[in-house]
Amino acid sequence: MKPSVVLAEAILPNKQKLSLRSHDGHYHIRVGGELLMSTTATASEARMAELAHEALGSGGGKNVLIGGFGFGFTLRRVLELVGADDHVQVAELLPEIVSWNRLHLRNVNGQLLDDPRVEIVLDDVFAVLSRAAPQTYDAVLLDVDNGPEELVDPRNERIYADPGLKTLSRAMRKGGRAVFWSAGTDESFLKRLVKAGFRADAISAKAYPQAQVKTHTLFIADWNG
Ligand SMILES: C[S@@+](CC[C@H](N)C(=O)[O-])C[C@H]1O[C@@H](n2cnc3c(N)ncnc32)[C@H](O)[C@@H]1O
Repeated sequence: MKPSVVLAEAILPNKQKLSLRSHDGHYHIRVGGELLMSTTATASEARMAELAHEALGSGGGKNVLIGGFGFGFTLRRVLELVGADDHVQVAELLPEIVSWNRLHLRNVNGQLLDDPRVEIVLDDVFAVLSRAAPQTYDAVLLDVDNGPEELVDPRNERIYADPGLKTLSRAMRKGGRAVFWSAGTDESFLKRLVKAGFRADAISAKAYPQAQVKTHTLFIADWNG
């Protein structure tokens, strides 16, 4: 059996242990022993970027917000699709995620942190949205948790709740698109998006390219003011 190697560990403010391990050519981040994310299944994270890009339209100077960084697969696909003068902000709650990507994961997506189009904001994406000027973002990609009903961090509930959706729409430009990643389907979240004024849809997405079934859900929320 191939060994699992601990590359880095940190204790979070809530006293839980955050760890980065490598195993058989892949990387895994755990919080308090629970798997938070891994590099083994990243297709739906890239798909988010493609869906957001479809709504960006032509012309440069677009503003994109991603929350959070993770292993950077959503960012990688965004950067492949947007133009040289577009701006991509990435809000990441845990500074260790950014420093570990820089230090241990340069060959995964860590080098993207140095792309001149990228601005890393070490903060809660909800705070970033709350302080944004009205109509700032053309696209917002939210993959901060397992989904509206399967929260790892209870504080993230506010992002998916009615006031959070109001905060999101306020920060979005007319014609802009938000995409939410979710591990599962959730009819009530789709209804909340519509109630908040978005034209909303949910599509299924593969976890990895060769997957036979589409196990993840991507919520698409178009804002037309
Ligand atoms: C599942 S990972 C994102 C994976 C990413 N889409 C990728 O392509 O690798 C979730 C990330 O969001 C961060 N996060 C969690 N809650 C957050 C919040 N409220 N604001 C910003 N980042 C958050 C986590 O620390 C983690 O890095």
